[in-house]
Amino acid sequence: MNQLIKNNSKTILLGISSGISLFIINGGLGIFKNISNYILNCINEKIYYQIDVDSKDKSFEWLLYWLSEHESVKDSTHLNAETVYNNIGKNPKVILVPSVGQHTIKYKGKTIWISRIRDSTFDMGSGAPFESIKLSTLINNSSAVNELLQEAMLLSLNKDIGKTVIYINSEGSWERFGNPRSIRSLDSVILNNNLKQQLLDDIKSFITNESWYRNRGIPYRRGYLLYGEPGNGKSSLINAIAGALNLDICIVSLSQKEVDDRQINHLLNNAPPKSILLIEDIDAAFKSHRSQVDLDSTNSNQINSLTYSGLLNALDGVASQEGRILFMTTNRIELLDNALIREGRVDMKIEITNATKEQASQLFSHFYNLPQDSPLSNQFSSNFANYQLSMSQIQGFLLKYINCPEKAIEESYKLLPVNLS
Ligand SMILES: *[C@@H]1O[C@H](CO)[C@@H](O)[C@H](O)[C@H]1NC(C)=O
Ligand SMILES: *[C@@H]1O[C@H](CO)[C@@H](O)[C@H](O)[C@H]1NC(C)=O
Ligand SMILES: *[C@@H]1O[C@H](CO)[C@@H](O)[C@H](O)[C@H]1NC(C)=O
Ligand SMILES: *[C@@H]1O[C@H](CO)[C@@H](O)[C@H](O)[C@H]1NC(C)=O
Repeated sequence: MNQLIKNNSKTILLGISSGISLFIINGGLGIFKNISNYILNCINEKIYYQIDVDSKDKSFEWLLYWLSEHESVKDSTHLNAETVYNNIGKNPKVILVPSVGQHTIKYKGKTIWISRIRDSTFDMGSGAPFESIKLSTLINNSSAVNELLQEAMLLSLNKDIGKTVIYINSEGSWERFGNPRSIRSLDSVILNNNLKQQLLDDIKSFITNESWYRNRGIPYRRGYLLYGEPGNGKSSLINAIAGALNLDICIVSLSQKEVDDRQINHLLNNAPPKSILLIEDIDAAFKSHRSQVDLDSTNSNQINSLTYSGLLNALDGVASQEGRILFMTTNRIELLDNALIREGRVDMKIEITNATKEQASQLFSHFYNLPQDSPLSNQFSSNFANYQLSMSQIQGFLLKYINCPEKAIEESYKLLPVNLS
């Protein structure tokens, strides 16, 4: 310790001289405090390694996210729920992170002390208080802190960026399902006319239009029904739209036994932020409904079940702050009850038909990477009538002739119904 004081004798002297006036006033307490603080700081610097991560820096978010995933943080009893965004500022997620104060974690066998500090000043932009997180460890173990920060960055960058996260309902709440899917490009979904663009524009306008709804007291939600024969890309369209708008997808499975009226209401109105709710094959879920006037009145012994009226109520429920985007799909719109798809529950009905000649030609061009309206593509599509074949049927056929568009054209008669049997 002598060594320490000698090395820094200049500063110590300054400390002493400014301490002298205090000494006179405070009867010696001041100078003692000054010197002991100073020495403590010097010792700290020799023993501890500390990094400050400021909330103004990107790494702050990365670190919070990393902490939320870390085992010893999960076990902690003092957590804050916070919303974080991915690196393009979208797809917010709520995570649990250490709250303001002191925490200790183990990382690679090293102890790291975490001190989260909230400033009294505010960021004018976001209105949030400035914060910082101090990470300290023994100086000998400093590399652990550096590695931690590096790992935090990679975790955030590799996670969910350019991916669509899929959620499924499990025991009445939302759970991530599998690894996030790569985004499907909207170009790969070939629809009739302008449908794709219309749908995209409609959702975009909805997303940016919250005040319009709030000002008029209209619930901030929008429902879409995609209907038409199977194999024409209803699900692919939803995946691609989610990708294009950077939304996640929550698949509502109504067939799960545990889903009852209360849960469906909770699920539909508490989807993770910035996500699309998807109920596939809605006709199948309520096949029996039409013959049984209402399920709950006839089946009184089935206490926990989903009823048709329960679903309707959930559809009408109070949408969350974020607004609710709901997609339903069906292969057989004629089986659906009018009440289910009336205006307000379904705002836009889009028919996804079998392939038109135009779509067949576009699919051919896309598949073989040919220009739109190339002679080969048109020759191919001229062999069929509109709506005769499904898109997946044509695609399946082309897959047999991956490198040979001419051969595909030559053999295309095999796709026609007479030859299918
Ligand atoms: C520092 O690292 C050593 C060697 O890995 C380890 O044994 C020790 O427990 C660590 N100390 C702290 C306080 O983490
Ligand atoms: C750090 O390691 C050195 C030797 O590598 C050792 O002499 C020193 O006591 C250690 N310091 C602490 C604080 O553990
Ligand atoms: C907002 O939504 C309403 C109703 O759908 C629509 O009439 C209006 O044009 C939208 N405004 C914008 C800016 O998209
Ligand atoms: C649509 O395509 C499917 C599969 O190729 C076919 O079975 C069905 O008859 C087609 N629909 C119409 C209206 O032609």
